[in-house]
Amino acid sequence: MTTSPRTALITGASAGIGAAFAHHLAARGYQLLLVARRDDRLRELAAQLTTRHDVRCEVFAADLTDPAAPAAVLDHADRQGLNIDILINNAGLSGKTAFADTPWEVLAGEIQLMMTAQTQLAHLVIPGMKERRWGRIVNLSSVAAFAPPAASLLYTGIKSYVLNTSQALDMELKPHGIHVTALCPGFTRTEFHDVMGTRDRADHLPGILWQQPDAVVTEGWAAVMKGKPVCVPGTVNKISAAAMKPLPIRLGYLAGKILNPFKNS
Ligand SMILES: NC(=O)c1ccc[n+]([C@@H]2O[C@H](COP(=O)([O-])OP(=O)(O)OC[C@H]3O[C@@H](n4cnc5c(N)ncnc54)[C@H](OP(=O)(O)O)[C@@H]3O)[C@@H](O)[C@H]2O)c1
Repeated sequence: MTTSPRTALITGASAGIGAAFAHHLAARGYQLLLVARRDDRLRELAAQLTTRHDVRCEVFAADLTDPAAPAAVLDHADRQGLNIDILINNAGLSGKTAFADTPWEVLAGEIQLMMTAQTQLAHLVIPGMKERRWGRIVNLSSVAAFAPPAASLLYTGIKSYVLNTSQALDMELKPHGIHVTALCPGFTRTEFHDVMGTRDRADHLPGILWQQPDAVVTEGWAAVMKGKPVCVPGTVNKISAAAMKPLPIRLGYLAGKILNPFKNS
């Protein structure tokens, strides 16, 4: 009897780390369901991966700031007859303006995208994973989750939520054959800083701080396969995460205030 290949649902697959995950998993024979807003990018990537690796690759264009999107994604997977065995909860961005100057709809969208949709997608795929007694969930956190809070940004708080809840879910789900990993990259060469509008400042940071997305994904996926609940990829990021964690609260507050290279003036 032949078994069908496992299927990975990747959000934010149209660029950066999500696209790198798509390449990495397709090369290992996984079927893919790619999600993001830019349909043209998704279709182009799917065609490339199908040709190169001979894997089934479906796309679904969705704006994950829409509260109806997570259920729509899973309905689409059902209609395509795809069981989701791997969920890469990757779609994300950082706000670029001061909290008080940002319209509520924009802030609510960030929370919906990186907290609610991410959590709901996990909630929707877990029952099937439990039934099949196998699942892998990767939640994109950030090395920022270990850092002191940064003025104006919800981002460090959001990524701390992701780091914390990923570990909580991993504890609950491991006995069911489901592993959850919080992947916590540092500066990664993607479109992230173009979207955030901080490309100029980012380009002035020392090269040693940066990783390529495929390096993040290679180390991240190896951690997933070992069942690690948290992965900080790259030596420099590991050192910064370890150094920042034990800071006393008062010192962390001051460091967050002074050291954030992207703070609004
Ligand atoms: N790059 C870094 O330095 C860095 C560091 C730590 C953590 N991270 C995290 O890594 C993840 C991936 O970021 P990246 O660096 O690869 O950035 P990126 O190159 O800008 O890619 C972000 C992806 O998220 C998708 N996305 C954004 N808003 C969306 C929405 N409303 N609905 C659906 N999809 C949406 C984008 O697709 P569309 O625009 O087509 O929708 C794109 O595919 C994020 O969670 C980010 O916070 C990045």
